[in-house]
Amino acid sequence: MSQYLEKCFSGAKINSLELRNRIIKAATFEGMSANGAPKPSLGAFHSRLAEGGIGMTTLAYCGAESNGRVMDSMLYMDEQIKPQLQQIISDVHSHGAKVSGQLSHCGNFSKNKEFKGRRPLGPSFGINSVGIASGMPFAGALTIPEIKERVKTFARAALFMKNTGFDAIEIHFGHGYGISQFISPRTNKRKDEYGGSLENRMRFALEVLAAVRAAVGDDFPIIGKISMMDGVGDGIKIDDAVEIAKMLDKGGIDGIITSGGTSSMNPMLMFRGDTLLNGMIEQETNPIMKFGLKLVGPKLFRQYPYEDTYFLPQAQRIRDAVDCAVVYIGGCSSNADIERVMGAGFDFIQLGRSLIHDPDFVKHAMADANYKNGCSHCNKCATLIEHPDGIRCVEVA
Ligand SMILES: Cc1cc2nc3c(=O)[nH]c(=O)nc-3n(C[C@H](O)[C@H](O)[C@H](O)COP(=O)(O)O)c2cc1C
Repeated sequence: MSQYLEKCFSGAKINSLELRNRIIKAATFEGMSANGAPKPSLGAFHSRLAEGGIGMTTLAYCGAESNGRVMDSMLYMDEQIKPQLQQIISDVHSHGAKVSGQLSHCGNFSKNKEFKGRRPLGPSFGINSVGIASGMPFAGALTIPEIKERVKTFARAALFMKNTGFDAIEIHFGHGYGISQFISPRTNKRKDEYGGSLENRMRFALEVLAAVRAAVGDDFPIIGKISMMDGVGDGIKIDDAVEIAKMLDKGGIDGIITSGGTSSMNPMLMFRGDTLLNGMIEQETNPIMKFGLKLVGPKLFRQYPYEDTYFLPQAQRIRDAVDCAVVYIGGCSSNADIERVMGAGFDFIQLGRSLIHDPDFVKHAMADANYKNGCSHCNKCATLIEHPDGIRCVEVA
């Protein structure tokens, strides 16, 4: 085994947490939590990944509050589901892997029925694109007291996660979700201390990080996923992302996951490969939404050809700029990819689709230096997040 494969498949620490290797299952909302409660299939999915040898899995979506969810089929951090979460964590632990939870807030972007008659709140007034067909076409702007309250909500959820037994927390700073709506000039039009300059637009993110850190303590691992670019004209660019990463590093984060794109404005930038559009139209049950997708879909779902390790050039800039751990994500699907990423100085690798395709990725990659995962990046798995049975790889039996 080469030195880089050796490095990847041996133990490593994030803050005080020891992982058996450097492969972390990426956050992939699995759609196995109807009405916000984990189904047995969610536990089975993560246990199976742990059996396959990963160092840590990530439970997503972990809404900071019920109103922090895009859909009511997403988890939110609440005492009612503590026993089920503890069971999942204990099952994963029994197979030698650790469990992180992706702590998120949807902000201005929701079709959660709880918002009926109200607006989801983000940094500024705007269109709630995902809520149009559900009669919630607009998003409102948070007042300053509401921002302070939302920071506390993140901290409460983080403490709940630590007390429940999660080994780490991944804060979602990217993909157009609640925190990144503040960071991006595309969605943040505020004129107060939370808008304008990058320092001001980062204020909410840094307050959340500080509050989560204060809630869980200095020795608890906190990592964060950022978008290195939004993929829209007036959004975040890589030069901004380098500064964002430096600020998070200085704010005490243990690791940064270098993703890109926005779920609501340019999703294909984060995935690459075959468009999600056809599968989403096929799966959509709301006729208005189906029509809307057919109408605006081709503009929203821009095409980006798949390339192995497609975020490496931009992620390398983040790697060079910060002292904290950097977690590579995006198109890693073979030992050759792992060698390239480890050779470039990254500390951990997150895998999404490769693990959905082959939960035994780690076992297979350790046994065969020429291992290549068979995921074709058809992206059908990502169109199944609202399917009653949740996601699966359609290419394997
Ligand atoms: C089915 C599916 C669901 C996803 N859900 C999330 C999510 O809940 N949070 C998130 O940050 N990213 C999500 N992603 C994006 C992945 O975390 C990852 O950024 C993307 O798949 C690229 O990595 P990969 O090439 O290893 O698959 C999802 C991806 C897939 C395929």
